[in-house]
Order: sequence, then C-alpha cells, then structure tokens
Amino acid sequence: GEIAARAGVIIDSMKSMEGPLLPILHGIQAEFGYVPQDTLPLIAKALNLSRAEVHGVMTFYHDYRDHPAGRHVLKLCRAEACQSMGGDAVAERVKQLLGIDFHQTTPDGSVTLEPVFCLGLCACAPSAMLDGELHGRLDDETAKELVMEARR
Ligand code: FES
Repeated sequence: GEIAARAGVIIDSMKSMEGPLLPILHGIQAEFGYVPQDTLPLIAKALNLSRAEVHGVMTFYHDYRDHPAGRHVLKLCRAEACQSMGGDAVAERVKQLLGIDFHQTTPDGSVTLEPVFCLGLCACAPSAMLDGELHGRLDDETAKELVMEARR
C-alpha cells in the first residue's frame, strides 16, 4: 500500500548507514507523525532484525508513537529536577484533567500526553512543552491553564 511505499523510500535511503534503526524510525515518524505497525516488518526485513527487536527498540525510546497524535501534543518532563520540584503532582493533575494516561490521546483527538526526559529547562522546573513551546514553573493553576490551552 501507500504507507509501505513511502516507508520503503525512507528505509532504502538509510539502511546502509551505520546504526540505521533510530534514523529510520525518526524518518518514518517525521513522515507519518507516528510509526505505523505496518512499517515494522519492512524495517525488520531491511535491517535483518526480528519484528520484536524493532518493536523493542521503538518502545525503549520514548520518542516514538505507535498511533497518530492528537491535534496538540503535551509533553511533561518526568526527569529528576522536575520531579523534585513537584512534577509528580503536576503530572497527576494533568492526567486527571485530561482523563488519560501518558502515551494516550483524549477521545476527542485534541491532546496527546507524553512524558519527556528533560527539556533543558531544569532551572524553571517543573516544565512542559505544548506543541513545541516550553512552559516552566508549573503548579496546579498553570497546569490547568496549559490543559485548557491544549484542549482548544
Ligand atoms: Fe525537567 Fe530538566 S529535568 S527540564
């Protein structure tokens, strides 16, 4: 199908690189917005890996989605500096407000929630990124505002 053809071009252009798996996964996610299930056997075959190995690498890194994202992507920093500054409470609040867990998308397709491991904004912990824009010093109130902005 069409997905296979588009993925095939990406795979072919990168398979002879050194350490091609991550660049291929990046390329495929850039093309489709996620890594479609159907591309895993193609990648596995091109790289002489098992499908389980490709899947294992994909889930080990937190960068890859196996479903299309919502219209907005909200990433909450789950790394140490943010955790020590109340990141857990903010994460719980956001999950509760959205009614979803990490790696999920709200049923209306508006927001995908993802964990991220350091946004380089540790001095303003706890931090988040909404559609590529950084937000720091989150608390209960600003977390709520961020969720409202994401849902618009
Ligand atoms: Fe959260 Fe660095 S630990 S931004």
